[in-house]
Amino acid sequence: MSKITVVGAGKYGSTTAQRLAEADVADQVVMTDIVEGLPQGLALDMNQSRPVEKYRTLVTGTNDYADTAGSDVVVITAGLPRKPGMTRMDLLEVNAGIVTDVTNRLMEHSPEAILVVVTNPLDQMTTLAAEVSGLPRNKVMGQAGMLDSARFAHFIAEKTGADILDIEAVTLGSHGATMVPVPSLCKVGGRPLADVLDAETIEELVDRTRNGGAEIVGLLKTGSAYYAPSAAAAAMVRAILTDSEETMPVCAWTEGQYGIDGVYLGVLAKLGASGVTEIIEAPLTNGETEALREAAEAVREKVDDLRQIGSGG
Ligand code: APR
Repeated sequence: MSKITVVGAGKYGSTTAQRLAEADVADQVVMTDIVEGLPQGLALDMNQSRPVEKYRTLVTGTNDYADTAGSDVVVITAGLPRKPGMTRMDLLEVNAGIVTDVTNRLMEHSPEAILVVVTNPLDQMTTLAAEVSGLPRNKVMGQAGMLDSARFAHFIAEKTGADILDIEAVTLGSHGATMVPVPSLCKVGGRPLADVLDAETIEELVDRTRNGGAEIVGLLKTGSAYYAPSAAAAAMVRAILTDSEETMPVCAWTEGQYGIDGVYLGVLAKLGASGVTEIIEAPLTNGETEALREAAEAVREKVDDLRQIGSGG
């Protein structure tokens, strides 16, 4: 019996729950939120789509952590999204309190769970969930790289006119300013990206990717992106539940890879039943490796900010 919990029944959480239910990879998806009635109402609505969409997974909406007991994988989306003009850092203090509380409650009922954190600011919240949960580091990861890579792929497809499914795009590093695009690993129909687009155009697309979240926040006015983010988070959960050992860009605990140690960072990792089963050291150019190391240092500084607000445990 496999069970997924999604904490937070807002835009990101509910679309993640929907995608996972429709994927039919778990017996049950539990969705929980502090707002009474919200997860219950959304769950009822989703369940009624089952005969049409032809899947069996049941979604349970609840405000009680007892219902999350025995979860195999938990996606933590609880927290406030960015408002226009707000940086991810602005969210730090309030979301640190929420993630600490949520993680403690989850661990009471699912001490063996694998945690996928999506709440922003992503690197700090993933670090915090790992520390608060006390879980082995391979069982706690964050979602950012799948989303940034997908955004980059979309922009490359739009610019080149190539089939989106023929694009391979990779971004590593941190989510936001220190996102590290890896053009050397990007391909369009099997051809290196640098053979298809000039350096200046690639840089434009990288910039747009880096600001991909903010661009959507600016258009929406309230709330942040959730369709591509939920697709990315659901893909990670599917890989874990099906023990697929698929390689994905995820925020994972580094242990010496690329000369980087002891920090959560966006790297390529294999995901399987025990969480992150292996971090893959991709062949990067010197410049890309340097950028990744800089991103690691930036994350370390951000984790220090976390300590300063006193929620770092
Ligand atoms: N426990 C459970 N749920 C909570 C808690 C809590 N302690 N605190 C807040 N929530 C819920 C809110 O009630 C709301 O339903 O989290 C949900 C957040 O939903 P949205 O406001 O729609 O935000 P969303 O777009 O889903 O983003 C969630 O993901 O991408 C990040 O920056 C984003 O940190 C934000 C998170």
